Amino acid sequence: MRKAWFVLVAIFASSLGIAWAKQDATQEKPKDTPASTDGYKISQEDIDKKNPVKPSPEGLAAARKIYGYDCAMCHGPKGDGKGDIVDSMKLTMHDWRDAASLEGKTDGEIFFIITKGKGKMMGEGDRLPETMRWNMVNLVRSYSKRDAGDKPAS
Ligand code: HEC
Repeated sequence: MRKAWFVLVAIFASSLGIAWAKQDATQEKPKDTPASTDGYKISQEDIDKKNPVKPSPEGLAAARKIYGYDCAMCHGPKGDGKGDIVDSMKLTMHDWRDAASLEGKTDGEIFFIITKGKGKMMGEGDRLPETMRWNMVNLVRSYSKRDAGDKPAS
């Protein structure tokens, strides 16, 4: 008899728990739409943005300097994703020397990510002028191009 009671109470309690969880889930939904990390969304307008800055030795050199301060600790000095703090921050990085790593992304998307950040990456926002952020896009793309020739065929 005692056992039956226990089972009943357990069932009752767990159904309460489920109802509670359900209510929680539905309440959470509207709150975390745009800026949350999992629902990362880039508008079509941003995706389609064209890069107004052509790659130039000067532009790339200027971007590389900033890259050294602001990006290399995560993305690695060569864009290979092996920066110093990757392990301690438990980051999952892409190796930009492999052209496939950025193939699916437009310049507009890369510009957006550099500006706004993504996941554990902080965006540059307006700390960098727009032209320089486009130079950064060109630099990010240059890692696969520059190394494409002298990569060992492994
Ligand atoms: C704190 C480490 C960190 C720093 C600093 C950082 N990033 Fe990132 N970056 C990341 C991580 C992690 C991702 C993957 C985010 C995701 O998809 O959740 C990423 C993604 C990107 C992407 C999208 C392509 C890809 O490889 O996923 C670009 C482009 C990028 N970063 C450029 C930059 C540039 C340029 C800078 C410097 C201005 C920079 N990042 C600084 C950690 C960092």
